Amino acid sequence: MAVAEFIPSSSLTKKASFYSSQLSYVSTKISHQRRLSFKPLSRTSQICCSVTSKEAQAPTVVQTDDPKKKSECYGVFCLTYDLKAEEEMSSWKKMITVSVSGAAGMIANHLLFKLASGEVFGPDQPIALRLLGSERSIQALEGVAMELEDSLYPLLREVNIGIDPYEVFQDAEWALLIGAKPRGPGMERAGLLDINGQIFAEQGKALNAVASRNVKVIVVGNPCNTNALICLKNAPNIPAKNFHALTRLDENRAKCQLALKAGVFYDKVSNVTIWGNHSTTQVPDFLNAKINGLPVKEVIKDTKWLEEEFTVKVQKRGGVLIQKWGRSSAASTAVSIVDAIRSLVTPTPEGDWFSTGVYTNGNPYGIAEDIVFSMPCRSKGDGDYELVKEVIFDDYLWNRIKKSEDELLAEKRCVAHLTGEGIAVCDLPGDTMLPGEM
Ligand code: LMR
Repeated sequence: MAVAEFIPSSSLTKKASFYSSQLSYVSTKISHQRRLSFKPLSRTSQICCSVTSKEAQAPTVVQTDDPKKKSECYGVFCLTYDLKAEEEMSSWKKMITVSVSGAAGMIANHLLFKLASGEVFGPDQPIALRLLGSERSIQALEGVAMELEDSLYPLLREVNIGIDPYEVFQDAEWALLIGAKPRGPGMERAGLLDINGQIFAEQGKALNAVASRNVKVIVVGNPCNTNALICLKNAPNIPAKNFHALTRLDENRAKCQLALKAGVFYDKVSNVTIWGNHSTTQVPDFLNAKINGLPVKEVIKDTKWLEEEFTVKVQKRGGVLIQKWGRSSAASTAVSIVDAIRSLVTPTPEGDWFSTGVYTNGNPYGIAEDIVFSMPCRSKGDGDYELVKEVIFDDYLWNRIKKSEDELLAEKRCVAHLTGEGIAVCDLPGDTMLPGEM
């Protein structure tokens, strides 16, 4: 049975419009019961229930105006369950906090339920979701939170919603930055870079101020590479290495096309790199990719197809999808965010790698420094990654990589006012397009 106390957003100020839904469970071997609540969370009066493995906090209730007097677990819902009685929970890991922007949007609507189910971080990983929306989307966000509650996910311990990144990113260990403005009619690309860049500059500052010092940030909102660059430049106290631009969707698209052409299931396709920008200059690398462990070029002998059809198909897949759907990819983007996270929290299979857009400083390939560029990476499963050195280049691949690099350098010059590097000069190449723009 669920009990919900609901306070409408209209009664709250911006700073105080941070809602919390704490979930608690009283379970026996035969039944699970949950109580839930929406409560406003302000910086001076917080309600929080957290669960650590093998440790149940003594229930306490704190109503205080002094933020220093916070306790680990407080609020009425801490009184409603006896965690010590929860055999299942005693084997759970320490709860992680995941902040998601654009949380009322379509991509998040697919993603949040995967996060809450344990599909992403594992079946023993309790999770707190902190959802960032806008003043316009706050009601929809309440709906999202309600649906999460109604889904009765045992691992989902807290849901907070709000419109202030300084509150929603508090202690975030993962920040999934999905929210961005789409390019409107008549808008110049420079205008899009500026509008979205301002959002990511502010969110970088907020992460810098309140997130975990080792937060991993995945930027999804377009143009995601340059948004990630802006974000990391505004978060100097967080390692630049921790910022990613999502190019996993492009990798997945490339794998699918190679599998289709070779007539194999897509799990037979490995070592696929997307180099560069998440744009129509991205380079899906068929030189280093493998099918059934063999170089793609030994399996697909049609070089013209690889260089022209395959490459363009992957570069423009987002646009074709928009034509069919009437809106941007959402479900497959959410799946690729899951893939991107899982690639960082599980060891990369021997001999394989994955693509992600990361900061180029120190890269072994000779790609320009100080941009966010998609490259091949491996992870030990600790959230960190290293760049793969065992890749080869030919003229075709290198020339295209350089084109994407040029595009990103131009984007960077165009947002200099947002990265603290002076006056912006916008000389974007004419073919600078997002995958969704045809
Ligand atoms: C996609 O790749 O599907 C999106 O990034 C498309 C877009 O340009 O919004």
